Amino acid sequence: MLDRTKAEPEQVWRGQESLTQKYYTSQAVYDVDITMIMDGQWLLAGHAAQLQKRGDYFLFEVGVESVIVTRDSPDTIRAFYNVCRHRGSRICSKPAGSTRTLTCPYHAWSWNLDGTMRGAPEMGPEFRKENYSLHEVHVGLFEGIIFLNFSKGEPPSFSNFASRFSDLVEPHQLSKTKVAYRKSYPTTANWKLVVENFLECYHCGPSHPTYCSVHSKLKLKGFIGGRQVGSNEALSAFEPLLLEWQEKASAMGHYTGRFTDDSESDHLQQGVRTPYLTDALTESRDGKLVAPFLGTFTQSDGASTYAVFSPLNSALINADYAILVSFVPRSVNHTDVECIWLVNETAREGEDYDVERLIDVWNTTLTEDKKIVEDNQLGVSSSMYTPGPHSYMEARVTSVLGWYLKHYEKYAGK
Ligand code: FES
Ligand code: FE
Repeated sequence: MLDRTKAEPEQVWRGQESLTQKYYTSQAVYDVDITMIMDGQWLLAGHAAQLQKRGDYFLFEVGVESVIVTRDSPDTIRAFYNVCRHRGSRICSKPAGSTRTLTCPYHAWSWNLDGTMRGAPEMGPEFRKENYSLHEVHVGLFEGIIFLNFSKGEPPSFSNFASRFSDLVEPHQLSKTKVAYRKSYPTTANWKLVVENFLECYHCGPSHPTYCSVHSKLKLKGFIGGRQVGSNEALSAFEPLLLEWQEKASAMGHYTGRFTDDSESDHLQQGVRTPYLTDALTESRDGKLVAPFLGTFTQSDGASTYAVFSPLNSALINADYAILVSFVPRSVNHTDVECIWLVNETAREGEDYDVERLIDVWNTTLTEDKKIVEDNQLGVSSSMYTPGPHSYMEARVTSVLGWYLKHYEKYAGK
């Protein structure tokens, strides 16, 4: 019998294997993780279409923080810690709403939508309102997608973070969309297990029959995630089909470039368009379009656009709809998977699209993923868990763990 009472030696990560247990279960590791994520990354909090008019707001919750994201003017979106400057109460408790001022329900201190203080009753003549503005969070906006960074100093450059996605994403004009559906998948698992699962398709065959019915097997084996991770056989069978699609898409004037960062990068970004290699026009159960075209598209070229802004968030875009996916750590073994389905802003529900059809493939896939990842966490938490080797189809998992450890070590040493 293996004696697990002896302390395990520190893992020297050799690549191509999962991490030791502590990285998925330890509060001390999570404390470093959450600082690393909130300080060093831009987190996808929502879409500008959720804030149609001045004073509309929604709450974004990450770790122990709650943030009020609001529209202060037609051109300005701001984000504030949902923490009263008096005795610290939450200011807003409803997940979304519309307001002219931000007023704390406890003793009625209030703020303008730019975070400056409006009033604090009965505080006497010495009280200086200018000292009690709300604490602000950095906001970045790309194609209507709202990103937040919680750095106490300078945030990472938003323009470096987002601008490289312009050619890939702009043709879809996500800034001219509306929210058709939102769903949160609260997942009882460490954020790294959620991310690892999302970045590989080794599990697609056994776990995602619906997703596999949209994409060809060859694609899933040879090219999933935009990085060549298949066997030589799968790759040589896939390559000519990819070239054929590239010619077709280019002839339509569609973008076919791609980029994939390595572990040394700041955000491990990836941008790629990949063909379904079936007759499908979009990711729907029958392959037929489920909503009016987005942006400049007037026909489908039979491919998805993947904008992986960081391991924590992505936009997956088809010719007719997009889904924003954000993995939001809440505690050491709890992660919220937040999803927003976007359609053309002119589309009318019930006439141009049906929500059930629109969300079917990804809702099915994400519901399956929740179960897989929660089962993964249960096994990883066992006294018998030891790291196992990655398949060549899990090359992106190897990349993300290398990226993670590099950033973790930097923050753990702070
Ligand atoms: Fe907010 Fe007192 S705690 S007004
Ligand atoms: Fe999956």
